[in-house]
Amino acid sequence: VIRVVRIDPGALFDWTAALLRQAGLDAPDAEEVSRHLVFADLRGIDTHGTSRLKIYLERLESGAIARTAPVIERETAVSALVDGRAGFGQLVCRFATELTIEKARRAGIAAVAVRNSNHCGCMSYYTLQMAEAGLVGLAVTNTNAGMPPFGGMDGFFGTNPISVAAPAGEEEPFVLDMATSVVAFGKIFNAAREGKPIPAGWAITADGQPALDPKEAAWVLPMAGPKGSGLAMLVETLGGVLPGALLSVLQTGMYEAPLVPQENGQFFLAFRPDLFRPEEEFRAAMDDLIRRLRTVRPAPGHDRVLSPGDLERLTAQRYSREGIPVQPGQQREFAALGDRYGRPFPAG
Ligand SMILES: NC(=O)c1ccc[n+]([C@@H]2O[C@H](COP(=O)([O-])OP(=O)(O)OC[C@H]3O[C@@H](n4cnc5c(N)ncnc54)[C@H](O)[C@@H]3O)[C@@H](O)[C@H]2O)c1
Repeated sequence: VIRVVRIDPGALFDWTAALLRQAGLDAPDAEEVSRHLVFADLRGIDTHGTSRLKIYLERLESGAIARTAPVIERETAVSALVDGRAGFGQLVCRFATELTIEKARRAGIAAVAVRNSNHCGCMSYYTLQMAEAGLVGLAVTNTNAGMPPFGGMDGFFGTNPISVAAPAGEEEPFVLDMATSVVAFGKIFNAAREGKPIPAGWAITADGQPALDPKEAAWVLPMAGPKGSGLAMLVETLGGVLPGALLSVLQTGMYEAPLVPQENGQFFLAFRPDLFRPEEEFRAAMDDLIRRLRTVRPAPGHDRVLSPGDLERLTAQRYSREGIPVQPGQQREFAALGDRYGRPFPAG
């Protein structure tokens, strides 16, 4: 039996970037994608880190992920429509995030919508950059249908995640990052890879019955019933309809159709808090909000109350010291990738 091993984040970054280079990305792009994936792994978001490397490499080599740079199709001082030209989702979204930040710093507020993109990972990677630039930020993406709307049993929405972030003063930023499904679909893939069951309430089978075996899970359910379904509709509106991307229900999944670009869409929004009150005052008031929240008495079964983003930050601190855990099934997958690219996975 292989056990969980821990890998040094720097070693994981180098190995991931090397494979992406070999699959055709130039060095700065390979490093950017690797930075994104290791960011997610370090923060314990193992659904959107290097667990996606294998499929990304396949799609890069097949041309489903193109090596073209995104272009701006329409632009004003406060907005842009970006054509991702079927490029790497993480690179298209880095371009869109930088554009949003630059415009919002200058004009006060800006929104950038993206079409013709690909799977783009962990949405807080983008909103944290906005918060670090002193902006309140929002990032959403649609993605191939993975969940039914509330009351339905056919996939319709992607797991359509939403991230928002806001800077504080002395405290770390507020960072919410959530799929609008009960869990990200990646948690079901990971359970399937490790041969583990999934809890009741996560997913249903193709005939609408509760799925406990991840291999029988056809669809994940919306979080909080009609409310999660409604939020997924919001994401579909901003990230699908507005940029003219494919609706989630019309997209092909990157695993089902590894040769086909997904044509999904994203939406980014950022604004300067000083449109409303002086920046320092806003930051101090955010500190106050976060501190008050954290001092609420913990309910039975909880050690403490955390602000959104705290858990990921604490995980990142721990994994930086102890290494990032890699599950047995993931190790086997990495070992096979290492063989294929002639670069052994540097675990242990
Ligand atoms: N690109 C895509 O197509 C796609 C699709 C779906 C999800 N995602 C990504 O998947 C990732 C995981 O999403 P998820 O829904 O599984 O996240 P999650 O359920 O792990 O966390 C959701 C939010 O809850 C907060 N949280 C978690 N535990 C907490 C606690 N004990 N106290 C206070 N706050 C807590 C987290 O900080 C986070 O903001 C996200 O990065 C998301 O962007 C991407």
